[in-house]
Amino acid sequence: MEAIKNNKEVLLSVRDLEVTFGSKRNPFKAVKGVNFDIYKGETFGLVGESGSGKTTIGRAIMRIHPTSAGTITYKGERINGKISPELDKKVISEIQMIFQDPMASLNERAKVDYIIAEGTYSTRKNLTRKQRTELVDESLLDVGLLPEFASRFPHEFSGGQRQRIGIARALIMEPEFIIADEPISALDVSIRAQVLNLMSKLQRERGLTYLFIAHDLSVMRFICDRIAVIHKGVIVELAECEKLFEHPLHPYTKALLSALPLADPDKEKGKELIVYKPNECHFDYETNPPTWREIEEKHFILANDREAKQYQDELR
Ligand SMILES: Nc1ncnc2c1ncn2[C@@H]1O[C@H](COP(=O)(O)OP(=O)(O)O)[C@@H](O)[C@H]1O
Ligand SMILES: [Mg+2]
Repeated sequence: MEAIKNNKEVLLSVRDLEVTFGSKRNPFKAVKGVNFDIYKGETFGLVGESGSGKTTIGRAIMRIHPTSAGTITYKGERINGKISPELDKKVISEIQMIFQDPMASLNERAKVDYIIAEGTYSTRKNLTRKQRTELVDESLLDVGLLPEFASRFPHEFSGGQRQRIGIARALIMEPEFIIADEPISALDVSIRAQVLNLMSKLQRERGLTYLFIAHDLSVMRFICDRIAVIHKGVIVELAECEKLFEHPLHPYTKALLSALPLADPDKEKGKELIVYKPNECHFDYETNPPTWREIEEKHFILANDREAKQYQDELR
């Protein structure tokens, strides 16, 4: 059991993960060779453009997508592939997901109390009606909503409120690990901070661990402890948050960072956007293929020997 690393408890470990879609004749690897650990209590960011495989990784951890290679380990037990019914039940309650579009992810014809309680019907079958109602009321209060909202329908709420309902639906399961898949991308800018603040409050109070998925780096600096950057199904760089922002090494990370607005408007106007051209950067991958390596302590990168030397020079 791989429990402790860098003096931190590893909650989730992903090794050589691959997820394949399409047919046998025409397979498409949406995710390949993915490696990372998530420590208990941290917020681990996963960033990459649309279609890069972020949701696929989340859904593979949730056991929604089958994996075609690699292992996913939760609290020291493999949870991908065939597992025991007991472990399945544990994963279902302890790992929860919240989604980008609260409207699309909530069942429009169900009332809020059913939407929030839904997961408990399979994991806690024996609850009385009264107990379940109490749990729903508690969950609503936990996310800053009123218990009387329980009898309403999702369309009666604002986007921010619907996202709170989505969070309540996860919380009622008493999860330890939450995969937040672009939880604020669809929300008005003015209410994004409220949802993020709620998430960090819940994390502090309950010691939650987050996998926070986003398509750009804009808010990640404020909430993530470490960040992994994914490009076309492959993780290219992984580092502590400050490190990644201060000393990005991979050209794709540099491109993502250059797209972030700068605080100084004069600098912003004159700034040059970095365009990532994989064929130019990695021209020798055919003869000198890249490997996933720790270039300095706690800083991982996909690089071949030539690039690794260049990155080491950059760090000096
Ligand atoms: N169920 C699926 N069947 C086939 N292809 C899929 C499926 N889900 C995702 N894909 C493909 O896998 C790739 C990664 O998708 P996704 O994980 O949703 O990306 P992201 O969340 O980073 O935007 C995309 O090319 C997408 O079209
Ligand atoms: Mg997605």
